[in-house]
This record gives sequence, structure tokens and C-alpha cells, in this order.
Amino acid sequence: MTLVDFFSPPRLGTAANLDSAVWPGDARYDVDGRIVVGDVALADIADTYGTAVRVLDEREVRQRCRAYRKTFPEFEIGYAAAALPIGAVADLVTGEGLALVVCSSDGLATALTAGVDPKRIILHGTGLSRDTLQAAVTRGVGRIVLGSPAEIDLLATVATRPQRVLLRVSPGIEQDLPRQAIGFPLDEVAAAVARVLGAPLLELIGFHCHLGSQIYNPDHYGEAIRRLVAEMAQVRREHDRILTDLDLGGGHAVAYRSGDAEMNLPELSAITEDALDAACARQHFPRPNVALEPGRGIVARAGVTLYRVLSVKQNDGGHASVVIDSAARGRTGDCAGMVVANRRATGPQLSATVAGRAGDVILATDVRLPADLRAGELLAVPCTGAYQPGATRPPVIAVRDGHYTQLVAREPNLLDRDAS
Ligand SMILES: Cc1ncc(COP(=O)(O)O)c(C=O)c1O
Repeated sequence: MTLVDFFSPPRLGTAANLDSAVWPGDARYDVDGRIVVGDVALADIADTYGTAVRVLDEREVRQRCRAYRKTFPEFEIGYAAAALPIGAVADLVTGEGLALVVCSSDGLATALTAGVDPKRIILHGTGLSRDTLQAAVTRGVGRIVLGSPAEIDLLATVATRPQRVLLRVSPGIEQDLPRQAIGFPLDEVAAAVARVLGAPLLELIGFHCHLGSQIYNPDHYGEAIRRLVAEMAQVRREHDRILTDLDLGGGHAVAYRSGDAEMNLPELSAITEDALDAACARQHFPRPNVALEPGRGIVARAGVTLYRVLSVKQNDGGHASVVIDSAARGRTGDCAGMVVANRRATGPQLSATVAGRAGDVILATDVRLPADLRAGELLAVPCTGAYQPGATRPPVIAVRDGHYTQLVAREPNLLDRDAS
């Protein structure tokens, strides 16, 4: 604490009731009872930019980058930009020492336009066009991850200079089935390796896997390491070639509501370190360079989405139907953790069903909201920084140290036009 802090009465209130598992670390109530993030009252953002609006706490993003780097000092951390594909965020996280993981031509363009060093970009080749792959090679993208024979062949034909590549492997422990469609199952890895090694300009440096999303059991990553190091040792036996890189993808769970399970990063670190030591010792294989690709884990908790209450209808039995000005076609549960943001409500609560303004889109059931909630009040949903439906529709406003700036402008939608 500085002298200035010591002699000034604190203007801001305590963080009581705002669970730091789901809210940015600096979120709190001010003396007027309004929720403040990045030292900016959310109500001021709503007044300035209208609602719906998404607030992104810059400090929280930086803190998450630093937490990952500190917890995994030996690993490379790449931000999976699909979680929140904004150039300014790419710039911010790379400034914090992270690499950037992109998986679309738009993602690649955003990263390059934001000035990210191409060598620090990991590009996933699935579904990419010849032009995008060609641009990636020409611009010097550091690593390209290939997940099918067709991708290998396409990159081999467009490469005009040596390109470092990883093969995406499905080690058989993926947590959500559809993803198994991407990548080489273990029994197809040998053929994929031979295919890449047969392409003169493709330099195979390692394997990649992505186990799914919202994984909170770190043991899955330990098992992935055991299986993939065994595959790397097999490549050495067959081709007398040592692969140096092992990318374990993302998928680390975050808590969306108080009490939700989340990935314990120190535990993940301990388990992956032990698995690496054991697997490398067992295979007499040199320790590879390991990368992680968190997306949600970096940005989810930094985002808070604000909505205005359009109407409140009290039903029988202490239940209410609340309509908010969300145009997103979300999923039920998207707004589960919402709270009133313009005042600190301490009185009786009721159970509410919350619907978007299209009426038929239920965003949450059984949300605890103040019994005296009125139209015009402001609601905030924490942990909405990643993979939001219509993520680029509402404006995105970054907040830091009492200042705010618009990162993404509002996109008009059909409902807005109908209303005007
Ligand atoms: C290849 C790859 N890496 C990383 C991620 C990031 O996952 P998460 O945001 O769950 O950490 C994804 C997300 O789908 C992915 O497909």
C-alpha cells in the first residue's frame, strides 16, 4: 500500500458476493452498489455503448497469461484465438509472451494484421484453402498442424520453402466424440509420418493432440503424453529421426457458475511433468518442447456481458419471466450466472426464467434475481469472454484502470432494423 492509498478512504467497496472463480479478479461493488470491473462501473459502459454489450477486463487476460506462464515455466503457451478472435487480444497475449493458435483463414488474417510475429503463429490446417496455406508458408508461419492425408498433400504442393509441421494425432482419449474425426488415430500415424517425410519441403517436428473442451481431469493429459511419446519413440525407431515438439492442445475447463469444477493448473503442471519424465525415461527419449493451447482458460473469465431488462412478469409461486435485450440465439444456461449490476440487491429473491427478446429463446431457467427487479435495470453475466454465441454481434469494450475503449463495434442485426 502506498501513502496515497493509506490516507485516502477507500472509495470502492468489497468484493463480497462476486465469486472470483467466475468474475474477473478485480470485480467489486462500488460505494453506490454498482458492479465495477477494471475500475469502471458496468452501468457506465451500458450507458455509453448501449446493451447488449460485452466488457473485457484487460488485467484479467494478462493475469491469466501470467498464471499459465508461471505455472508451466518449461512449456510454451499458445492462445487459441478462436475463443475470442480479436486482433487487439492477439496483440495483448503475444505481448505477454504467448504464441498464437489460429484455425481459420480469418484467424490467420486477424493475427497477421494485428502484427503478430508469424513465427509465433501455430496454424491448424483443417479445412483451409490452398490460398490460405500458401499465404501461411509465404508469410513464414512458424508451425502448421496437419490432420489428414489430404492436408498433407495440399501443403506439400503449395509449399515453396521449408515448412515446419506437426501431425495432429487422436490418441483415443478425446473427451467429446465429434473431435475424433479430426487427426490421425494411433494406427494411422505411421502412414501419416511416412507421407510427410516423403514431402521434401515439409519438416516434421512433432505431434499435436486436442482432447476436447471443458476438461477438468488433468490425468487425461498425462495419458496423452504417455501415448504420444511412445509414438515419437516409434518414429525414431523406424526413421532414425527425433521429433522435438509435443503440442497438447487446449480444453482446460473454466467455472461458469460458482461451485463448477475447473482445471486446477498447478495439478495439471505436476501431472504433465511427471508423465513427461516417466514417458521419456521409459522410451529413452529426449524431453520434447511441450506446448499448451488454452483459449477459454485465457479469456473466459475476463468477459462480462451486460443486458437491459425489457420486461418482468411475475408468475404464481414466486417465479418470474424476465425478457432481456439479447438477440443472440444462445443455449439454455448461457445466462445462468447473471446478477443485477446497477445496484447491490440484498433483499428477497425469486426464481426467474430469462428469455432473449426474440421471446422464444430461453437463455436461463431458475436464475435467482431480486424480487423487485424492474424493466430498465442492468444485468451482468460473468465468464462470457470465450466462445459466445454471436460473439462479434455486441460491441466489445476493453476496461483497464478506470479507462475503457471499444475493441469491436456493434454489428446491426435484423432485430435492430425491425425495431428502427
Ligand atoms: C486445436 C485446438 N486447440 C485449442 C483449442 C482451445 O480449446 P479451449 O478454448 O477449450 O482451451 C481448440 C478449441 O476448439 C482447438 O480446436
